Amino acid sequence: MTSTRVALISGANRGIGAAVARKLFADGWAVSLGMRRPELPNWADPERVHCFAYDALDPAAPAGWVAEATARFGRIDALVANAGISIPKSVVEIGDDEFDQLLDVNVKAPRRLAAAAWERLCETGRGRVIILASLSGKRVKSARSGAYSVSKFAALALAHGLRHAGFEKGVRATAVCPGFVATDMAAALTERPAELMTSPHDLARVIALLIDLPNEASVAEFCVNCQLEESF
Ligand SMILES: NC(=O)c1ccc[n+]([C@@H]2O[C@H](COP(=O)([O-])OP(=O)(O)OC[C@H]3O[C@@H](n4cnc5c(N)ncnc54)[C@H](OP(=O)(O)O)[C@@H]3O)[C@@H](O)[C@H]2O)c1
Repeated sequence: MTSTRVALISGANRGIGAAVARKLFADGWAVSLGMRRPELPNWADPERVHCFAYDALDPAAPAGWVAEATARFGRIDALVANAGISIPKSVVEIGDDEFDQLLDVNVKAPRRLAAAAWERLCETGRGRVIILASLSGKRVKSARSGAYSVSKFAALALAHGLRHAGFEKGVRATAVCPGFVATDMAAALTERPAELMTSPHDLARVIALLIDLPNEASVAEFCVNCQLEESF
């Protein structure tokens, strides 16, 4: 088994996931990148980077991904469940199909991924799970963020559930809760200029730190905001 730590990152082709992949790689990790259309990034050294065709809507994908990453690197130290979608509709407007989609990608898929990687994460004695939740998992900011918020409140609870389930085995789970981060997702939701949003790179630095902290420094939730709100 290699001594290099190994992280699985979903939605690693763009946005926050791409920034996390690059940061962990730069910090010396081996990274396994889950993307719908797998393609090695231009910075990647194929020795330490693996790509897997991951679609969050495919219930069989996590088992295949974990098996392939384990065959390739021999261990899994961290999972960054990042792939997510936003549908800016109120809880009244949204239809069942779109609501199901939000819950499938933002809640059910990260749970399945964590469950599939669980044994490997426990094996290391210091496994890490990062769930990309959101400040929308902490408060409902507007009517049109209502449906998304429901999914992110559930994602937040998922992170807490994983933290409880894994604590005795050395697994630490954190819900990362950002406000606007300068990615395609935020650009579609707000007129706020990208330079006034949290940069994906800075969020990746936070996530790298959270993953690196020892078992005795468990962080249950980490909120980060680019603007002043009452509590965040
Ligand atoms: N940006 C923000 O302001 C913000 C704030 C709080 C929380 N977040 C959360 O942070 C995470 C990343 O967001 P982002 O801003 O980087 O979003 P983004 O730029 O829209 O990227 C979303 C990522 O998720 C992937 N994805 C979506 N549906 C998928 C599916 N069915 N299967 C596999 N991958 C899928 C996308 O892949 P494709 O390229 O194939 O579509 C892409 O890699 C999300 O969970 C989001 O809710 C974002």
